[in-house]
Amino acid sequence: MSRIFSGVQPTGNLHLGNYLGAIRNFVGLQDDYECIYCAVNMHAITVWQEPNELRNNTREVAAAYLAAGVDPEKSIIFAQSAVHAHAELAWIFNCVARIGWLNRMTQFKEKAGKNRENASLGLYAYPSLMAADILAYKATHVPVGEDQKQHLELTRDIAQKFNNDFGKEVFPIVEPLIFGEATRVMSLRDGSKKMSKSDPSDYSRIALTDGRDDIARKLKKARTDADPLPETVDGLEDRPEAANLVGIYAALSGQSKADVLKEYAGSQFSVFKPALTDLAVEKFGPVGEEMKRLMTDPAYVDDVLAKGAERASAIANPIIKEVKEIVGFLGA
Ligand code: TYM
Repeated sequence: MSRIFSGVQPTGNLHLGNYLGAIRNFVGLQDDYECIYCAVNMHAITVWQEPNELRNNTREVAAAYLAAGVDPEKSIIFAQSAVHAHAELAWIFNCVARIGWLNRMTQFKEKAGKNRENASLGLYAYPSLMAADILAYKATHVPVGEDQKQHLELTRDIAQKFNNDFGKEVFPIVEPLIFGEATRVMSLRDGSKKMSKSDPSDYSRIALTDGRDDIARKLKKARTDADPLPETVDGLEDRPEAANLVGIYAALSGQSKADVLKEYAGSQFSVFKPALTDLAVEKFGPVGEEMKRLMTDPAYVDDVLAKGAERASAIANPIIKEVKEIVGFLGA
């Protein structure tokens, strides 16, 4: 049986990359699979979070799922910290994963920066908790943006080693689901950097809650080159900013990049940017509006999260029990 799991960190500034690379894809999967979507607040605290902001941002992730169209009757929406299984399995996986594997994680290197000695131990063990998130449900497929690929390879390595060590096919080998025309949305200010929640410049990203004026202003300022749009996708090579905007247009309109270029070949950015603004406002605006509306009703969002946590626990608890017995924990 196939089961989907994915998560988003409640660290604020949810953006177009989160939406196109992940959240939007969650919606389409719920008709065909059992889906579990988490606000990963335990991952969030691997770097400092103000407690009140963390609470608010956790609701905001849930609101984003709901506003995008995740149906809480069909899918499970919950906060990671509300289900014990994540922390319990993460510890076991900390003892399965090898230090050498974690040393290769590029996201740790990026996030820890130059001052590695001062990074939290949690930030280092982050991918092991992520493996626990997924495997606590024996999930088989994980929809994410491209930047999570390496973490999912580690999840596969952990599952394989656990299965080998204990001589039992306990965990499935997960498949990443990385699809759409915008699996890696880049910063609007620098086409070589991915769009990110932590970029100090607000102009680098379109936030999920941005209205028409913000979107128009940010796209107007977005970095581009001086040439008109090319006729083919090959012509976007070495033009990262142009490739990014065409990719965003393609993802929002549900077309391929080649189709977008058929329509806009030879156009200047002075024409393409306003067209992209209109499209973004049309497709993306209602999601932000609904998210803001949901944030005025925290009791409803909290109720969705509480019911989701109960359903998630009901799936994870027997799996954790099985794992503890396999490991040899007495009185599991
Ligand atoms: P996070 O919170 O950084 O991002 C949430 C999702 O958004 C995707 N994403 C992007 N996609 C395209 N372009 C971008 N610029 C962009 N930026 C972010 C991410 O790939 C992700 O799918 N480690 C995860 C959270 C997590 C998780 C999990 C995911 C924890 N446990 C288990 C899947 C399964 C993260 O930091 O996501």
